[in-house]
Amino acid sequence: MRIAIIGTGYVGLVAGTCFADSGNEVTCVDIDARKIRMLQNGEVPLYEPGLEELIRKNVRERRLAFSTELAPAVGPAQVVFIAVGTPEGESGDADLQYVLAAAEDIGRALRQYTVVVNKSTVPVGTADKVAEVLARTARVEFDVVSNPEFLKEGAALEDFLKPDRVVIGTASERARRLMGELYAPFVRTENPVLYMDSRSAELTKYAANAMLATRVSFMNDVAALCEKVGADVDFVRKALGADRRIGYPFLFPGVGYGGSCFPKDLKALVATGREHGLELDLLRAVDRTNERQKRLLVAKALKHFGGSLAGRTLGVWGLSFKPKTDDMREAPSLEVIEGLLGKGAQVVAHDPVAERGARRYFGDRIRYAALPYDALEGVDALCIVTEWNEFRHPDFERMKALMKTPVIFDGRNIYDPARMRELGFTYLGIGRR
Ligand code: UDX
Repeated sequence: MRIAIIGTGYVGLVAGTCFADSGNEVTCVDIDARKIRMLQNGEVPLYEPGLEELIRKNVRERRLAFSTELAPAVGPAQVVFIAVGTPEGESGDADLQYVLAAAEDIGRALRQYTVVVNKSTVPVGTADKVAEVLARTARVEFDVVSNPEFLKEGAALEDFLKPDRVVIGTASERARRLMGELYAPFVRTENPVLYMDSRSAELTKYAANAMLATRVSFMNDVAALCEKVGADVDFVRKALGADRRIGYPFLFPGVGYGGSCFPKDLKALVATGREHGLELDLLRAVDRTNERQKRLLVAKALKHFGGSLAGRTLGVWGLSFKPKTDDMREAPSLEVIEGLLGKGAQVVAHDPVAERGARRYFGDRIRYAALPYDALEGVDALCIVTEWNEFRHPDFERMKALMKTPVIFDGRNIYDPARMRELGFTYLGIGRR
């Protein structure tokens, strides 16, 4: 099949590369000429394990190309994906200007029957809006499909190539057949393609993210309660997860969720509810708990150091919102570090890949350490914000020797409290004794 993908962000780039890798001819289009030049030279503008190799392979084998020109890519395509950004609008709703502008250009460029697919996370009703724009601009037949993407950053290829499910929202039988063919290489019986109407598909994406965010905030509340009553959240988590109705994933308490999806999508869903006269109280509480959670490490540090951090230096391990990505969007580290600086501390931070992104937020207000141990020299305490694998089995004796005082505020509960006590650390996790 010939495919055009509009937008080379996370979703567009991963989808385009994976469709090319399953034998299709794909052109990825972006208005950002610098980004397209980079991609044409085999450089990938974001960090995602395995992506660069797969892009290069498919470019070499001439199934994948990059361009700033939309019309030549869209004209011959049978399927066109819209995968542009939907930033948070002024009242928490998703801003659709890029989606609708792309639809307008696509409409003018269509040359034969084409399926136009919304891959961006878009509010309920957007497929209808895109169809209206296309009806105004296109001279040929088309169908609009809502096909939300569920990939996780850091595991994007794996998620795309082996999805739990593929959701296809459209009333058109013709479009269903084409989409079914396109996704056939990635699905098996136990990970089905689910066909539905476009509104249900659009809502599914938001509901999935909202439910996962709810699990995280729920566990953060349980962790807070554990601290109050002298329980250990790790026991509680394992025993909850063993109930098959609950399951283990997304029950880890921490410094709050971040990233480009959960915070934004939750707010957008609340905004959608409000537009329709429905107050989604549960989801508002999920968001409130998350805001509280992002302030927790600083509160623990303040309490430990007697109410002030003036004159203290704190090391920070982990800047990206989660491991295996350089994404700093809504990263809890932003709140943690601003909080530490605001209370007068100096900060020296290390992240395996996110330093460049972090510099955009903090500039020279903090120091950056190239290696984990370099962020420990002479510090009064260490804050662990992102659970990168490289932090899981450090040389604790070396850490102790480097730190001024062996104090760790662990926002991800990656060490065993009893062992840390034996080693002589003051070790404060989330929801643990
Ligand atoms: C998420 C969804 O998982 C994905 O399906 C959707 O397409 C986009 O949004 P992503 O933002 O890449 O993906 O990250 P994810 O791995 O889901 O983690 C989200 C946040 O929740 C992170 O900040 C993570 O640290 C936090 N989290 C996750 C927890 O705090 N505890 C957990 O148990 C799981």
